[in-house]
Amino acid sequence: MNKRYWSERIQSLVPYTPGEQPKDRVFIKLNTNENPYPPSPKVLQAIREATDDRLRLYPDPEAVQLKEAIAHYHGLSPDQVFCGNGSDEVLGLCFYAFFTPGKKVVFPDITYSFYPVYAQLFQLDYEEIPLNDDFSLPIESFLGNNGGAVICNPNAPTGKALSLSDIRRILEANPDVVVMVDEAYAEFGAQSTVPLLREYPNLVTIHTLSKSRSLAGMRLGYALGSPDLIAGVNCVKNSFNSYPIDRLALAAGTAAMEDVDYFEQTRRQVMETREQTVATLRSLGFQVLDSAANFIFISHPKCPGGELQQALRDRGVLVRWFNKPRIRNYLRVSIGTSEEMQAMCNACQEILKG
Ligand SMILES: Cc1ncc(COP(=O)(O)O)c(C=O)c1O
Repeated sequence: MNKRYWSERIQSLVPYTPGEQPKDRVFIKLNTNENPYPPSPKVLQAIREATDDRLRLYPDPEAVQLKEAIAHYHGLSPDQVFCGNGSDEVLGLCFYAFFTPGKKVVFPDITYSFYPVYAQLFQLDYEEIPLNDDFSLPIESFLGNNGGAVICNPNAPTGKALSLSDIRRILEANPDVVVMVDEAYAEFGAQSTVPLLREYPNLVTIHTLSKSRSLAGMRLGYALGSPDLIAGVNCVKNSFNSYPIDRLALAAGTAAMEDVDYFEQTRRQVMETREQTVATLRSLGFQVLDSAANFIFISHPKCPGGELQQALRDRGVLVRWFNKPRIRNYLRVSIGTSEEMQAMCNACQEILKG
């Protein structure tokens, strides 16, 4: 590729690689942590009702209605909420808003692989702190002496959750910088930092509607923090794209946040299926980390990760394999419906027999 006209800033940038979205055949799709259940019927109804000639008008740049619904759900005020086009965008805007070049941002070596990309894009110094051998977070390495910290809880791709008391220690040791907690998967079993927001002005909590609210296709995420921090993210947003959320997404997101019953029912179903799957895979000899997310991180002593991924693909099951040091032998498997997980386990059994 000829990068002659590319800016010097991006000549050596390695972008994030999203999981495969196959178009050629139908797979059991357990590779991008989507929710196996459809969005709430109320969400679909809200989208239908918003689909009319008002689409010629720009959407509300402040997303007031959606912010109110999110604030109400979390018991916060709307000025503590920032909404963006997926939490990837929210994370990117927060990296820009809160971290300063020359001041080293820290995050784990094994975590959501978008963090180093944002750091590189915004020319931030960063350090990837090695997780312990059991993939737990070495808390001591996050206690101060940095320009900000990013923690994914539960972590991706391991699914391991951190306790609120550990997060408190990190917040307290870093009073002058922002600690960002990415809770993309927290609603499947981790303790949320939302109750800590009133105590720690340096905390930003990031959520998405892609996972627990079945809206990956709509692109909605949000940040929660003090009104001052949220004003900082708004400052970046309004210097980049004033209308990140379209009219249909505003309607969908509001309805999704309001339909708490549906959210509770589907997230519980996912957690139940996860526990059944974990038990089955362990009985087949897999090592499965305890997961607080809508995915599990698995390995088998007799089958290398890359080979298992390919063998599953050949049998119509897509899972995610990261060809990276320390986790090459693992697969990240999203939790689908109970039937899909049974089919995945059957495929594993067949592969192991072969
Ligand atoms: C840890 C983590 N954070 C954030 C995201 C981004 O989610 P979205 O942009 O769909 O809100 C993902 C998506 O997979 C993720 O795994």
